[in-house]
Amino acid sequence: MSTKVRKAVIPAAGYGTRFLPIAKAVPKEMLPLVDKPVIQYVVEEAAASGITDVLIVISRSKRAIEEHFHPAHELESELAAKGRTSDLNDLRKLQNLARIHYVWQPKMGGLGDAILYARDHVGDEPFAVLLGDTVVASHTEKPVTRQLADVVETHGGSAVALQRVSPDKVSRYGILGGPEVAPGLIKADVFVEKPKVEEAPSNLAVSARYVLSPRIFHHLQNTPPGKGGELQLTDAMASLMREEALHGLVYDGQRHDIGNKLDFLKANLHFALQRDDIAPALREYLKTLV
Ligand code: G1P
Repeated sequence: MSTKVRKAVIPAAGYGTRFLPIAKAVPKEMLPLVDKPVIQYVVEEAAASGITDVLIVISRSKRAIEEHFHPAHELESELAAKGRTSDLNDLRKLQNLARIHYVWQPKMGGLGDAILYARDHVGDEPFAVLLGDTVVASHTEKPVTRQLADVVETHGGSAVALQRVSPDKVSRYGILGGPEVAPGLIKADVFVEKPKVEEAPSNLAVSARYVLSPRIFHHLQNTPPGKGGELQLTDAMASLMREEALHGLVYDGQRHDIGNKLDFLKANLHFALQRDDIAPALREYLKTLV
């Protein structure tokens, strides 16, 4: 069994009910942050973390994701003929990020159910999970997925990315508790999906990135439906935690959840204000608004 993290699974099958009507026919993962779809940032993070093989879990109305990562020879010839080298290079880079595969989740059964569809593809090695509607910008040079892979390659078991959230938000996340064994590294002994604030073991919220042991599939198979009647990845991880180590890493960075309207708009402003070609004019415009 390989102990290096080479594969990633990106769940992108969810209907996007927090973002209707746009998410009816346009995958929320294909919404742009300035000019790049969210899922491209996610695949770029995986690639920058040393991952060479990506499996995207899709469903009805998610075909645009496949097209985005598929070569477009006619478009490339057109760009070449017009001398648009920089756009052409960007397209080619996009196609060489990783080997990308797809699997369908036929009906919505929760995050845990989506991950189960990756079982045959992943096989018997640790793998990353990156939620396809969330960009996680690391404030250090290492992407957060790479930081988690380092934890698993050093300590074995599984690891999840954590952020502290305010008490009123703990009921929206998987919440982890346990002793801090090194600065920012928690050895989990409790893990609950979306607890009430008075029942939460801490305010450490799981934050869209995981590196999982392949033993997770066995636990997913044997976990009953949880919150919302769905198969919860958190519940299967809580069961796995009794067999193998689970670490939580409090990372230094920012999470942009694009699946809801306000955070999507904030993220667009955040990324646009970092762009030299857009920021000065946008800043002037914003001043006239507020
Ligand atoms: C999912 C997980 C939850 C996690 C959250 C953010 O919830 O079930 O444990 O904290 O993603 O990563 P969702 O946002 O899909 O309801």
